Amino acid sequence: MKKLLVLIAVAFLPLSATVFAQTNIIVNADQAEYKINEHIYGQFAEHLGRGIYGGIWVGPDSDIPNKEGYRTDVLEALQELDIPNVRWPGGCFADEYHWRDGIGPRDERPVRINTHWGMVEEDNSFGTHEFLRLAELLDTEPYISANVGSGTPSEMKDWIEYMTYDGDSDLANLRRENGREEPWDIKFFGIGNESWGCGGNMTADYYADLYRQFQTFAKNYSGNEIYKIASGWSDDRYDWTETLMREAGWMMDAISLHYYTIPGPGWGNKGPSTDFDVDMYYKGLKAAFLLDEFITEHSNRMDKYDPNKRVNLAVDEWGIWTDPLAGTNPGFLEQQNSMRDALIASISLDIMNSHADRVRLANIAQMVNVLQAMILTDDDEMVLTPTYHVFHMYKVHQNSMLLPSHSDTERFVREGDESVVRRFDIRRDEPGIPIISTTASEDEEGVLHFTVSNTHPTESQEVSIDIRGKNVSTIVRNSGRLLTASSVDAINTFDNTENVKPVAFNDAELEDGILTFEIPKHSVLVISVE
Ligand code: AHR
Repeated sequence: MKKLLVLIAVAFLPLSATVFAQTNIIVNADQAEYKINEHIYGQFAEHLGRGIYGGIWVGPDSDIPNKEGYRTDVLEALQELDIPNVRWPGGCFADEYHWRDGIGPRDERPVRINTHWGMVEEDNSFGTHEFLRLAELLDTEPYISANVGSGTPSEMKDWIEYMTYDGDSDLANLRRENGREEPWDIKFFGIGNESWGCGGNMTADYYADLYRQFQTFAKNYSGNEIYKIASGWSDDRYDWTETLMREAGWMMDAISLHYYTIPGPGWGNKGPSTDFDVDMYYKGLKAAFLLDEFITEHSNRMDKYDPNKRVNLAVDEWGIWTDPLAGTNPGFLEQQNSMRDALIASISLDIMNSHADRVRLANIAQMVNVLQAMILTDDDEMVLTPTYHVFHMYKVHQNSMLLPSHSDTERFVREGDESVVRRFDIRRDEPGIPIISTTASEDEEGVLHFTVSNTHPTESQEVSIDIRGKNVSTIVRNSGRLLTASSVDAINTFDNTENVKPVAFNDAELEDGILTFEIPKHSVLVISVE
């Protein structure tokens, strides 16, 4: 009966933009087609600022508690996230990284200059062995980005042999001399990074040729199988994708897409990461929703050459990029992380989940101390960010089947919202932002998981989820967790580490297959039923 009443209410719901109170979502639990690949939940760790040095790696002789040189607090917090893959060593850094600098005794490694990120000296104490050991400690797949911009196919080929060959070659024996007997399994392998920009300022045609050349020498040794990722565009340059697909689509497993959410008017004025107003909150979320447009349009170009979607779209850099924190080296890209950023993470993950047919790999930028980080550190102190908590809550979707869902959510429109979209030629017929963003999935045990975000800055929402095609009767005990805060710019600090953290949520009801609850303003919820 209750189901009938809700359905009648849905049918007569007024469409006026002033009604924000109710969102009805229909989930077709018997129509799942695509798995949400766990690799959408990947991380990115570049040699940039305090991302590696100080953030993850302090060296075995440090006073900061560590395991084999990796700080214990950070390691343990990251282990909780079930991270499926970590991309390294860049970013822009990758195209000037020479792997031989980072092997052998640490005190004999050469010191280079990190010209992209602050012109600081790079002592190479964190290299191939240190990264691949980190991957083991995190039980995660390494994703290596190779140097195309200033490297050679031969250098790249040697690196793969060094890491993956189990025979008696000089390079495999050098690996053994350096302390590693068994070869590593290396799957994800990027052939260049932003080759249109910091990776070499190439044209699409030139890079397509170089991609074809380099990928020829990305060899499979000893049963290892390389998954080749071509360097794609940022944002909306669709002709780059078109050229690569036409010229080399059959030689790649994925093409990358980078998209950074910028709340301010442009790269020169990205907006602050702390003490911002509701307008900046709104603009940040509005910019985050553009990811859907970019994935759709790049994927459409790919469809022309790859209608069966064999080639994946790897969103291997995404997240909010704000102005650097005052007093920090601008080349270190240090920013705080707020409730707004938690919502940017949940919205972006929902969008990528919804494109599970094409997006099968993604990496938030970046894991520690850089851009939209999971963790911030200061000397021996550590704080988990609101974005960390979103990744923790969203673990339930990793490798679950995406359940098709239809939402009648209203859009929240703020005056002057055109300014946030002026950089792009996007769908201007849809003003504002959806108030409710969601993902529904079913795991291997038949448990259904829902993540729901309320983007509205001032109003809570009544939500009903009408679960069709599967009988469910119980809300999974302790599955409800809610992340919210007193304000949209609320942050965690070293003095107040738990200002923004998830709390138990027990205020949902499940009756006749309809899950109902009220979700507070600017919050993210996860809840499961069976
Ligand atoms: O994540 C920071 C930088 O952003 C990366 O190094 C580069 O690929 C992108 O421009």
